[in-house]
Amino acid sequence: MSFEIDKENMSSEMVLRQAAEIIDAEPWYVAAMSNLSALIMVSMDRLNWAGFYLIRGNELVVGPFQGKPACIRIPVGKGVCGTAIAQNAMQVVPDVHLFPGHIACDSASESEIVIPIHEGEKIRAVLDIDSPVKGRFTDEDKAGLEALIRIIEERVKWGESI
Ligand code: SME
Repeated sequence: MSFEIDKENMSSEMVLRQAAEIIDAEPWYVAAMSNLSALIMVSMDRLNWAGFYLIRGNELVVGPFQGKPACIRIPVGKGVCGTAIAQNAMQVVPDVHLFPGHIACDSASESEIVIPIHEGEKIRAVLDIDSPVKGRFTDEDKAGLEALIRIIEERVKWGESI
Protein backbone atom coordinates (compact mmCIF):
# COMPACT_ATOMS: atom_id res chain seq x y z
CA MET A 1 0.00 0.00 0.00
CA SER A 2 1.32 3.45 -0.75
CA PHE A 3 0.18 6.82 0.50
CA GLU A 4 0.26 10.18 -1.19
CA ILE A 5 -0.45 12.47 1.65
CA ASP A 6 -0.55 16.21 1.34
CA LYS A 7 -1.07 17.86 4.72
CA GLU A 8 -2.87 20.78 3.08
CA ASN A 9 -5.48 18.57 1.43
CA MET A 10 -5.83 15.80 3.97
CA SER A 11 -9.39 15.86 5.33
CA SER A 12 -10.11 14.03 8.54
CA GLU A 13 -12.42 11.71 6.57
CA MET A 14 -9.45 10.73 4.37
CA VAL A 15 -7.25 10.12 7.39
CA LEU A 16 -9.90 7.97 9.04
CA ARG A 17 -10.46 6.01 5.83
CA GLN A 18 -6.73 5.39 5.47
CA ALA A 19 -6.52 4.33 9.11
CA ALA A 20 -9.21 1.72 8.51
CA GLU A 21 -7.40 0.50 5.37
CA ILE A 22 -4.09 0.23 7.26
CA ILE A 23 -5.65 -1.90 10.00
CA ASP A 24 -7.65 -4.08 7.60
CA ALA A 25 -4.55 -4.71 5.45
CA GLU A 26 -2.40 -6.03 8.31
CA PRO A 27 -3.43 -8.56 10.94
CA TRP A 28 -0.56 -7.90 13.42
CA TYR A 29 -1.41 -4.88 15.57
CA VAL A 30 2.24 -3.81 15.99
CA ALA A 31 2.72 -3.48 12.24
CA ALA A 32 -0.63 -1.71 11.81
CA MET A 33 0.15 0.69 14.66
CA SER A 34 3.51 1.51 13.11
CA ASN A 35 1.78 2.78 10.00
CA LEU A 36 -0.93 4.48 12.06
CA SER A 37 1.72 6.46 13.95
CA ALA A 38 3.22 7.52 10.61
CA LEU A 39 -0.23 8.45 9.28
CA ILE A 40 -0.85 10.70 12.30
CA MET A 41 2.58 12.31 12.03
CA VAL A 42 2.16 13.23 8.36
CA SER A 43 -1.48 14.27 8.53
CA MET A 44 -1.41 16.59 11.58
CA ASP A 45 0.84 19.62 11.67
CA ARG A 46 2.89 20.93 14.63
CA LEU A 47 3.66 17.54 16.19
CA ASN A 48 6.96 16.27 17.56
CA TRP A 49 5.87 12.80 18.75
CA ALA A 50 3.00 10.46 17.90
CA GLY A 51 2.62 6.85 18.91
CA PHE A 52 1.39 4.15 21.20
CA TYR A 53 2.16 2.83 24.66
CA LEU A 54 0.98 -0.74 25.25
CA ILE A 55 -0.21 -2.17 28.57
CA ARG A 56 2.07 -4.88 29.89
CA GLY A 57 1.17 -5.95 33.43
CA ASN A 58 0.88 -2.84 35.59
CA GLU A 59 2.88 -0.58 33.33
CA LEU A 60 2.91 0.93 29.88
CA VAL A 61 5.66 -0.03 27.44
CA VAL A 62 6.48 2.08 24.43
CA GLY A 63 5.10 0.70 21.15
CA PRO A 64 5.20 1.90 17.55
CA PHE A 65 5.83 5.64 17.28
CA GLN A 66 7.30 8.51 15.26
CA GLY A 67 9.57 11.02 16.93
CA LYS A 68 12.61 11.07 19.18
CA PRO A 69 13.47 8.02 21.31
CA ALA A 70 11.12 8.07 24.31
CA CYS A 71 10.71 6.77 27.86
CA ILE A 72 10.29 3.01 27.54
CA ARG A 73 8.22 2.05 30.59
CA ILE A 74 5.66 4.19 32.44
CA PRO A 75 3.90 2.90 35.59
CA VAL A 76 0.09 3.13 35.63
CA GLY A 77 -0.80 6.39 37.40
CA LYS A 78 2.42 8.19 36.39
CA GLY A 79 2.71 10.97 33.85
CA VAL A 80 0.01 11.89 31.37
CA CYS A 81 -0.09 8.40 29.85
CA GLY A 82 -0.29 6.61 33.21
CA THR A 83 -3.01 9.03 34.34
CA ALA A 84 -5.06 8.29 31.19
CA ILE A 85 -4.94 4.60 32.18
CA ALA A 86 -5.64 5.16 35.89
CA GLN A 87 -8.65 7.39 35.08
CA ASN A 88 -9.62 5.48 31.92
CA ALA A 89 -10.09 8.87 30.27
CA MET A 90 -8.65 11.10 27.58
CA GLN A 91 -6.11 13.63 28.88
CA VAL A 92 -5.73 16.92 27.04
CA VAL A 93 -2.81 18.91 28.42
CA PRO A 94 -2.51 22.43 26.94
CA ASP A 95 0.75 23.08 28.85
CA VAL A 96 2.73 20.03 29.91
CA HIS A 97 4.78 22.13 32.34
CA LEU A 98 1.63 22.63 34.41
CA PHE A 99 0.73 18.90 34.56
CA PRO A 100 1.91 17.42 37.88
CA GLY A 101 4.19 14.45 37.19
CA HIS A 102 4.47 15.01 33.46
CA ILE A 103 7.27 12.82 32.06
CA ALA A 104 9.41 14.87 29.69
CA CYS A 105 10.69 12.52 26.98
CA ASP A 106 11.34 15.26 24.43
CA SER A 107 12.12 18.72 25.82
CA ALA A 108 10.41 20.19 22.73
CA SER A 109 6.98 19.00 23.94
CA GLU A 110 4.70 21.81 25.13
CA SER A 111 1.23 20.24 24.86
CA GLU A 112 -0.02 16.68 24.72
CA ILE A 113 -3.10 14.52 24.19
CA VAL A 114 -3.43 10.94 25.40
CA ILE A 115 -6.40 8.67 24.68
CA PRO A 116 -6.98 5.13 26.04
CA ILE A 117 -7.63 2.31 23.57
CA HIS A 118 -9.84 -0.59 24.64
CA GLU A 119 -10.61 -4.15 23.64
CA GLY A 120 -14.12 -4.49 25.04
CA GLU A 121 -13.89 -3.23 28.64
CA LYS A 122 -10.14 -3.86 28.86
CA ILE A 123 -7.63 -1.06 28.23
CA ARG A 124 -4.96 -2.28 25.82
CA ALA A 125 -2.93 0.83 25.00
CA VAL A 126 -2.90 4.60 24.75
CA LEU A 127 -2.40 6.88 21.79
CA ASP A 128 0.00 9.66 22.83
CA ILE A 129 0.57 12.77 20.69
CA ASP A 130 2.93 15.62 21.63
CA SER A 131 3.25 19.10 20.14
CA PRO A 132 5.94 21.76 20.42
CA VAL A 133 3.10 24.35 20.55
CA LYS A 134 1.12 25.12 23.71
CA GLY A 135 -2.63 24.48 23.39
CA ARG A 136 -2.16 22.64 20.09
CA PHE A 137 -5.09 20.22 20.51
CA THR A 138 -8.49 21.75 19.75
CA ASP A 139 -11.99 20.33 20.25
CA GLU A 140 -11.95 19.44 16.55
CA ASP A 141 -8.71 17.47 17.03
CA LYS A 142 -10.21 15.72 20.05
CA ALA A 143 -13.29 14.68 18.03
CA GLY A 144 -11.16 13.49 15.09
CA LEU A 145 -8.84 11.50 17.32
CA GLU A 146 -11.77 9.96 19.21
CA ALA A 147 -13.12 8.82 15.83
CA LEU A 148 -9.68 7.35 15.04
CA ILE A 149 -9.67 5.50 18.37
CA ARG A 150 -13.12 4.06 17.62
CA ILE A 151 -11.78 2.73 14.30
CA ILE A 152 -8.79 1.20 16.09
CA GLU A 153 -11.01 -0.36 18.77
CA GLU A 154 -13.42 -1.80 16.21
CA ARG A 155 -10.78 -3.21 13.87
CA VAL A 156 -7.50 -4.06 15.60
CA LYS A 157 -6.94 -7.72 16.46
CA TRP A 158 -4.80 -7.97 19.59
CA GLY A 159 -3.57 -11.55 19.19
CA GLU A 160 0.19 -12.26 19.20
CA SER A 161 -0.06 -15.48 17.19
CA ILE A 162 0.06 -13.90 13.77
N1 SME B 1 4.89 12.80 28.33
C1 SME B 1 4.39 11.49 28.56
C2 SME B 1 5.45 10.46 28.38
C3 SME B 1 5.55 9.93 26.99
S1 SME B 1 6.24 11.00 25.90
O1 SME B 1 5.42 12.19 25.79
C4 SME B 1 6.45 10.30 24.45
C5 SME B 1 3.75 11.35 29.92
O2 SME B 1 3.88 12.22 30.77
O3 SME B 1 3.10 10.32 30.12
